[in-house]
Parts: sequence; C-alpha cells; structure tokens
Amino acid sequence: MHMAHDTFLGLDLGTSGLRGLLINARGRVLAEAEAEYEVSRPHPGWSEQAPSDWIQAAQTVVSRLRGRDAGAFSCLAGIGVAGHMHGAVLLDDKGQVLRPCILWNDTRSHAEAAMLDAKPNVRQLSGNIVFPGFTAPKLAWIQAHEPEVFARVDKVLLPAAYLNFWMTGDAVGDLSDAAGTSWLDVGARDWSPRLLEASGMQQARMPRLVEGCAPAGHLRADLAAEWGLSAPVTVAGGAGDNAAAACGVGALNDGEGFVSLGTSGVLLAARDGYVPKPETAVHTFCHAVPDRWYQMGVILSATDSLNWLSHQLGQDPAELTQALGDRIDAPGRIRFLPYLSGERTPHNDSHIRAAFLGLGIADDPLDLTRAVLEGVGFALRDSLEALRMAGARPERLLIIGGGSRSTYWVELLATILNLPLDLPEQGEFGAAMGAARLGICAATGTRPEDIMTKPTIAKTIPPRADLTAAYDAAYRSWRAIYPALKELS
Ligand code: XUL
Repeated sequence: MHMAHDTFLGLDLGTSGLRGLLINARGRVLAEAEAEYEVSRPHPGWSEQAPSDWIQAAQTVVSRLRGRDAGAFSCLAGIGVAGHMHGAVLLDDKGQVLRPCILWNDTRSHAEAAMLDAKPNVRQLSGNIVFPGFTAPKLAWIQAHEPEVFARVDKVLLPAAYLNFWMTGDAVGDLSDAAGTSWLDVGARDWSPRLLEASGMQQARMPRLVEGCAPAGHLRADLAAEWGLSAPVTVAGGAGDNAAAACGVGALNDGEGFVSLGTSGVLLAARDGYVPKPETAVHTFCHAVPDRWYQMGVILSATDSLNWLSHQLGQDPAELTQALGDRIDAPGRIRFLPYLSGERTPHNDSHIRAAFLGLGIADDPLDLTRAVLEGVGFALRDSLEALRMAGARPERLLIIGGGSRSTYWVELLATILNLPLDLPEQGEFGAAMGAARLGICAATGTRPEDIMTKPTIAKTIPPRADLTAAYDAAYRSWRAIYPALKELS
C-alpha cells in the first residue's frame, strides 16, 4: 500500500514540559500530546534539568501521539524542535552528557556575565548584553568551578540542538538559538572567533550551524524503526522558543510582533534588518528564517508574579483575576515591581528583587492582585519603550500566553502599552506550531512566508482611551521607583 509522506511534528521543549503537535502539510492539527518534567534548584539562583528527562518526555509524547493517530504519525515527513533558550548541554567526545543542563533562568554566572560583557567588542559583535542567563557565562562558570567537567567538553549544544542530536546523531545548531549564546556574530549569522576566544572556547566545540527552516539531518534509522516509520524523516534546524512562537503567529517582518504573558513576559518585534541596540537591554537575535532578525524585551516574572501571589494567598490565579471583573478602572494606589527573580529588560539586574509600595490598612487580596497585574504591565511598557529606542515601531501586537485568558489583564495591558492587542481564536499558534512549520519548510522546501500565516483573530482589544493618560502617569511614577529600590538593595 502506498502511504503518503505528508505529516509533520513540532516539539516544544519547554521549561516545565515537552509538547508535541502533529499537523498536516496545510498546518491543520491532527494530534497533540504533552509530558511534564521538573526543574531542579539545588542552590538559590540555580536552575537545572537532566537532558535525559527531555528524551524520556519526547518518547512519551511520541507514543501518546501514535496512540491518538497512528495512521497520521506513520506518514511523518519532517520534524522541527523549539526549545527554551540559552541552556548549556555539555557533551564529551562520545556524545555523553557531562552534567545537568544549566537553564536560561539560572543566575549563578552573573559575575562571569559582567566580566564578559565588559570585554571590548563583545556587545558590538554579539549585538546584545551578555546576560547571566546566556550560554557563554555558564561555560565560564564551569571553567572556574568545575574544571574537570570543562576539560572534557567536546561539544556545547543548546536544548533544542541536543534533542536534534539525539534524533539524528549530528551536532547541528540553528541560528535563532545560537544568537542567545554570546558566541554568535548575530549580524553575520556565524560563530565569531573573537567572541569564542573571549570566553576561552573554540569553534571545534560548537555545532555546525543551519537556518531554523533548513534541514539539519535525518531521523536515525533505529529510532525511525522504533517509531514505526519507514521513509526518511527530515529534521529541521529548529529554533529557540521565541523565534518559533514568532513563526507560529506569522511574525516575520517589520511591524509584526507579539506580547506573551507566560512564566516570563516577552514583547517581540520581527525585524527586516539587523539593528542591535544592546544598551537598551533589548535582545537582538536571528530569526528562524533567513535574512530576518527579531528584537525582544524579556521580563523574568510575568504570570510567575501572579502565581507567586496566588500561592501566598492560597487562591487560584484565575479566581484572583476573575474577582477584578472584565473591565479596568483607574490605576490602583499600590505599586508592584515584578522583580521576583531579578530583571532583564531594561535593567539587566539579577540582584534586584520585587517590591510592593503604598500598602494601606484596608487593602485586600483584590488590591494586591490589581497591583501585580499593573506592575507586570508597566514592566512590559518598559520593554516597549526599549524596543522603540531600538527602532521597532509596533502599531498593534498579538497577545498570547496563559495570562491572555484574563480579559481584565489584556485590557489593562492594551491601555498601559497604548496599543491595540489582537487576541487569537482558541487554537494552536505557539512554539510547537512554529516548530512544526519549520519541519514543513525543511522537509518540503515550502517557503516560510507561504506557511507561516497569522492566526484568526477572535477580537481586538483597544486601549481604553478614557484611561490611557491616567495609566501613562502611573507608569511614569512606577518607573521612578526602580532607581530608589536599587539604591536600597
Ligand atoms: C529568552 C529566554 C526565555 C526562554 C524561555 O531570552 O530566556 O524566553 O527562552 O523559554
């Protein structure tokens, strides 16, 4: 029997779990599955995962997808992986993992980051501040604290590239993820010998690079047989999760972008050219498609701030936001700075911690919730201002991520940013969809612009014109708090 070879798998290797999405060549979802894993925090500021947990999760997801639609899975032609960025998977010369992966939200290497950031030409070549979460300072930390591990490092792979390595046997990285290492010349889209040398690394320890939408290799024959596949399966270069999410919502060109209310908060603008502005603490990275870049502001605690409050109050986050109703009012009196895990954009400050200001005797959980939602909104406004300084001019943004389920929060954010926010219809448009689309491009040669379309918009939430001036004033007073807080901490 002739079997069509026309389904595609997107894998999103996230911080809390791995998600798989099986789609057809037109992008229609055929099956979906998830498997969770833990983050280990052996010391304050540390955050690690065992790469073997990702492999186990990938096997679980594949077997669940096969259980849901064996016929469609057996027609698999291409795979794309999106991964949480910046993590360092260290391999020895036999391809064995040397130690747990140090993740993007691990801040142990802040001193090494500051040291690398101060070196001549580092910001200029990498287009970015060397943040403590990035990969190069992690290796500098390992060199200083675990020299026996450092001496055995044969390859450094990012999380998505490691999953690709496991599937294909080839050490290949994609440019969008490589841009977050501080080893890439982000303008030239290639490893920079100068940057590698600045942190005592050599190009021989780096994977070969491809564009995210280009083929990186083929699924190993033994794995293909285990998964019940007979025809060759192409594995795409893949992407860092933010670039993949941009592919998932069709944000490829200047003027297109999204704001994501997830664990961390991201305000992303696609760019046609390379115009870095490291001093704004905006990230400028390669996109997962050729000749495109993107810029984003990253705040470290978005829904994480609400989750923290919900934990302290013993109430569900959804209950807390629902109690506020759907429509916003004038800004509250309490100010919240959401720096529970330090901050990236615009402060690049891993030491700063969060604050409530202006608490009154009569204030209750409702007031605290409003302050937290506003504080996250103001922090994202900081990212918008930083992106504008970098030359991005978003006129509207898609709103995605778990926080977008709160109508109140979305109206609040539209008003604080003073931009209309487009809320997509329920459906798949995140990093897993972006990754699956990269799989289509790599396996079939489909042009990215032909498959990376925008989601259908359920509704557009405009800023509340009657309240933008009040929120603008509140933002300005909120902004004055950080320098004082830094002084005290
Ligand atoms: C981006 C970043 C995070 C992770 C989260 O620079 O660190 O968004 O990619 O998954």
